[in-house]
Amino acid sequence: MTVALELDDIQRGALQARPSPYVGTYLLLRIDDRDAGRRLVERLVPHVASAASPLDSRDGASLSVAFTYQGLRALGLPPDVLESFAPEFIQGMAARAGYLGDTGASGPEHWEKPLGTGEAHVALAVLAPDEERLDDLRQRARRAHEQLPGVDVLWRQDCYQLPNERTSFGFKDGIGQPAVEGSGVPPSNPHEAPIKAGEFVLGYPDETGFPPPMPSPEILGRNGTYMVFRKLQTRVAEYRQYLRAKAKTREEEVLLGAKIVGRWPSGAPLALAADEDDPELGADAARNNAFTYADDLRGFKCPAGAHARRANPRDALDHEGMVDVRLHRMIRRGTSYGPMLPAGVLEDDGAERGIVFVFIGTHIDRQFEFVKTQWLNDGIFIGAPDERDPLTGPNHGWEAFTIPRRPIRRRLQELPPFVITRGGEYCFAPGLRALRWLGGMEA
Ligand code: HEM
Repeated sequence: MTVALELDDIQRGALQARPSPYVGTYLLLRIDDRDAGRRLVERLVPHVASAASPLDSRDGASLSVAFTYQGLRALGLPPDVLESFAPEFIQGMAARAGYLGDTGASGPEHWEKPLGTGEAHVALAVLAPDEERLDDLRQRARRAHEQLPGVDVLWRQDCYQLPNERTSFGFKDGIGQPAVEGSGVPPSNPHEAPIKAGEFVLGYPDETGFPPPMPSPEILGRNGTYMVFRKLQTRVAEYRQYLRAKAKTREEEVLLGAKIVGRWPSGAPLALAADEDDPELGADAARNNAFTYADDLRGFKCPAGAHARRANPRDALDHEGMVDVRLHRMIRRGTSYGPMLPAGVLEDDGAERGIVFVFIGTHIDRQFEFVKTQWLNDGIFIGAPDERDPLTGPNHGWEAFTIPRRPIRRRLQELPPFVITRGGEYCFAPGLRALRWLGGMEA
């Protein structure tokens, strides 16, 4: 039976796709005074859209609000309420860094301040289809925290999505998303039945048949979700130089890049276009995610170690009957930051660029952390224990990536890290009623 979701109580940013293209700003605020913090929430609430309102309402601009564990403490929630949150959320991302593979240059000691310091309390995402509308909403958000002694903006990160939806390595991103039962958002992959709403919104049964543990009181937890954001620097020049060194021709460079990602730059999946890019397929939302790996278990089309196939092996693990891929799905809302490195440039221009990766789901541990640690950072599940994700894994310069091929496989050796973690936070994005409760407006 399909569950009826209380869409008017769920933040729109959690369930609905964003406008495309768009511009945006992420802000991190610190609350030093509990009453000022509550007034901040009270002032923000009217600007937060619900998942029931269509994308073009409010000019397509949207504000999302989330809190770190330290933020909920700063708002003065009592210990029994604070302890009702998921343990990994309570610990925070920096405390999980070793487990997540955030070591060396990606370690919290090198993170951009205040990420991982416990000082970031409130995370705001302000997004709009263009600068003008963004500015309008940004000003409304500013009025909410201006003249509130005891609330400070600590960090600001501007971001954007290009019209062609490509990110800094040159690939269209954000295609593979789960359909959420009861959300009204149509599925993009007819081979994957919609995932139970409880995997993405608290208060509803998840894929196990039971509702996941929910923070209490119910008014606080219900219709909320966890949100993970990570600022990930992409080393685009190093990536291009690596491909140039490994390929004999420009065509081969593009092919190796596609094998690493699992899709061509246009977004066309290797599973449906094994030999060359198919921009029409990449642009066709009805077809570009409609595939499985059942006829390619050995990875001749899309290597088992490719980024997108690791992150969602679809039916490729079904035959082992051990892994239920549906327990490890996630909603992603990534955005680009920094200037793109112009096409064809191989030298580093010194500018920082990358992705603000955003995860949404009710289980930080078995969704985000599982995928990151077991599938991206490890290769045991595909029989290649020494291999990590060639695109985003914590490689050190000695790992390899296997590309199955007849008559003999190809091995890309000495993979350097192409992605560096600049920091991140585990957050909780409450429902709208919960926001009003946190702002002291609802009993
Ligand atoms: C800078 C870092 C990253 C880059 C550049 C990147 C890029 C991409 C690209 C180009 C795709 C294919 C297009 C698509 O299906 O949307 C993709 C898919 C995906 N990525 Fe990433 N990604 C990054 C980090 C991550 C991380 C940290 C995770 C999870 C922990 C992740 C999870 C996924 C998932 C779940 C998919 C969809 C797979 C599917 O459903 O087929 N990615 N990524």
